[in-house]
Amino acid sequence: MFDKIRFRMSLSFGKPIIGREEEAAVLDVLRSGILVHGQKAKDFEVAFAAWTGAPHAVSVGSCTAGLHLAYVGKGVGPGDEVIVPAQTHVATAHAVELVGARPVFVDAEPRTGNIDIDAIESKITSRTRAISVVHFLGMPVAMDRVMDMARRHKLFVVEDCALALGSRFKGTHAGLFGDVGCFSFYPVKHITTAEGGMVITKEALLAERITRQKAFGVDRTVAERTIPGIYDVTMLGYNYRMSELAAVLGIEQLKRVQGFLETRKQNYACLADDLRAMDHLTLLDSSGGDAESSYYCLSVLLDDTLAEKRFEMVQYMKERGIGTSVYYPQAVPLMTYYRLKYGYRAGDFPVAERISNTSIALPVGPHLSKEDMHTIMRTLKEAIAHVRPFAAMFSSYGKSTAPALLTGKRVVLIGGAGFIGHNLALELKSLGADVHVIDGLQVNHLLSVVASTENQPNRTLYLNMLHTRLDLLQKAGIPLHVKDARDYHALSLILGQLNPEVIIHLAAVAHANRSNKDPYSTFDHSLRTLENALDCAKGRVKHFVYFSSSMVYGHFEQGAVREETPCEPIGIYGALKFAGEKMVIAYHQACNLPYTIIRPSALYGPRCISRRVGQIFIENALRGEEIVVSGDGSDALDFTYIKDLVHGVIQVLTREEAKGEIFNLTYGDARSIGQMAAMIQEQFPQARVRYEPKEALMPDRGTLSVEKARRLIGYNPQYPLEVGYPEYINWYHRRATYGDQK
Ligand SMILES: Cc1ncc(COP(=O)(O)O)c(C=O)c1O
Repeated sequence: MFDKIRFRMSLSFGKPIIGREEEAAVLDVLRSGILVHGQKAKDFEVAFAAWTGAPHAVSVGSCTAGLHLAYVGKGVGPGDEVIVPAQTHVATAHAVELVGARPVFVDAEPRTGNIDIDAIESKITSRTRAISVVHFLGMPVAMDRVMDMARRHKLFVVEDCALALGSRFKGTHAGLFGDVGCFSFYPVKHITTAEGGMVITKEALLAERITRQKAFGVDRTVAERTIPGIYDVTMLGYNYRMSELAAVLGIEQLKRVQGFLETRKQNYACLADDLRAMDHLTLLDSSGGDAESSYYCLSVLLDDTLAEKRFEMVQYMKERGIGTSVYYPQAVPLMTYYRLKYGYRAGDFPVAERISNTSIALPVGPHLSKEDMHTIMRTLKEAIAHVRPFAAMFSSYGKSTAPALLTGKRVVLIGGAGFIGHNLALELKSLGADVHVIDGLQVNHLLSVVASTENQPNRTLYLNMLHTRLDLLQKAGIPLHVKDARDYHALSLILGQLNPEVIIHLAAVAHANRSNKDPYSTFDHSLRTLENALDCAKGRVKHFVYFSSSMVYGHFEQGAVREETPCEPIGIYGALKFAGEKMVIAYHQACNLPYTIIRPSALYGPRCISRRVGQIFIENALRGEEIVVSGDGSDALDFTYIKDLVHGVIQVLTREEAKGEIFNLTYGDARSIGQMAAMIQEQFPQARVRYEPKEALMPDRGTLSVEKARRLIGYNPQYPLEVGYPEYINWYHRRATYGDQK
């Protein structure tokens, strides 16, 4: 019941860690009656200066206030320009606007999202007074290069360190290279004071000025006033002070900051290791060489296939209790205020815009554990699969050349609305193929389920799944031609119109027990449709793919069966599949039809309605009914998750080496029914198991070797039962929990 637990927990993007020490300190201040102008803000400044190594630290009401005071303190005003990164929080730019100067934006560099240092120089004019940088997501900017440029042009440097507490470059803390560094203690930051900020600087005079101007420009602090009420105002100022309540929070938080940072670093490493192996995603680089990041969060950039689904993915994760964010949602110069004021346009800052438009920020804060990182990773993979069925799988199968080779290729799937067919059609379409489905919707589909007078278990559930299949095909833009492939004329007419490059023949009564009960119908739907398809394909089609079965082998005599193992099918189903293989090969011999024969085994996965053993187990367990094992549980099957099979078919369609070959496309390592039942009991501890005699005519099966497919076409199955089956169970849970139709 791991699912229920998982869905209940909430992994927020950021969460302040407030302990008893913070509570007690705040209470002490409240009871003391000194809420501002006390010693605590000073103590916090001293502690912060010591921790960062800063000569001077001045507490302020927020990072924005600190940035504003920095420009005021340096005398920046109307007519001046300040270089500002385009990829930042709006506060970095607003601070410049607040003093009446003009922010001149510079694009980001793609590896880190930090300001593109090479692009700064061309933006410097005679009016430029300063360069501001932001250590994006805690990744320190190469400050030696920035300082070098600033010195050459006699500019001062403001470091926005809102996300950079703990960031170091060449061992020096962020904020201590430039003239001023400003930190934020907003609740999701590395430490929090609710609202709050700190300015650090090496310049005593600047620190003094900021101290005055954060408090109205008064010439002495309350403590310095020997006679109460006697003071003067020597300059313009603001009310940007930090309260005593905030200051004690900061003091307590700072005592724990080292631990917070270490957890962030570990969490980040854990998540990054997994993410780096995935296709479709790029990580913004966070550390290495001279740079030590503060690991504020982990931002991933989605490629074009996923980017447009970003908010669907974010929503998917949110529904499962995982908070994400976007840093930052719009390049600042493209925000309405700046766009209208300075005339910036989309496309002016391509890197910053790409980060804003395609990234998702994942949490790594100290409120989360390593275990949570695995949950985030798993849910992200699910989110990808949710928005783009099967996109996720390619990341684990390794880089593939498939998409390019499939683009525009017309592929017709006969029997393509079935369990294998619709999953395959969706994936082929998403890889750019021009897919059409021909299906009569009769065998194990809408017409037979609707018309059946038997008391079918889960009738409504299955009708729902069938509708969902058709909906998914329709939404993906895959035409469904409702034709009976037993009707030669109907089939030849539609295939003549479609003129496909590839035909995949799936039509069958794909169930051994049912086939034995109704041999004629099995022949009709399997062999007759095949004969019709072959006849229409000959001389026209470049590749004919036939779905056979592991049942052609009959009893697996010893060890894993290989494609060369002699076939001795038992019963109608295996015999007809074997006959089908022979027919395909005969058409190749007689008419030069290029072909591939595929032998799958014990398939399982979402939206199957065939009620094979794994599915019946789950449905019974969900309903609290007993699990019935036929035989003593020692029978083994090469259980294969649909994603592995689909991946295998893509390899078949994109590798010339596949032509003229038979391939076992299974996981390649059998598991016993008893092992499967044990997995069910792990997930549903209350489930009872009953054993009953095995059906006659059921061969003893086991592992199918997939070595040939690995060697010739790069087949690389990824879903042992221990991985695929829980994912399938999870899918059933989700349907129950969210009414999720996919
Ligand atoms: C880079 C950057 N600068 C400045 C700020 C503003 O900080 P504050 O809310 O403390 O004013 C933020 C806030 O997230 C930020 O991300």
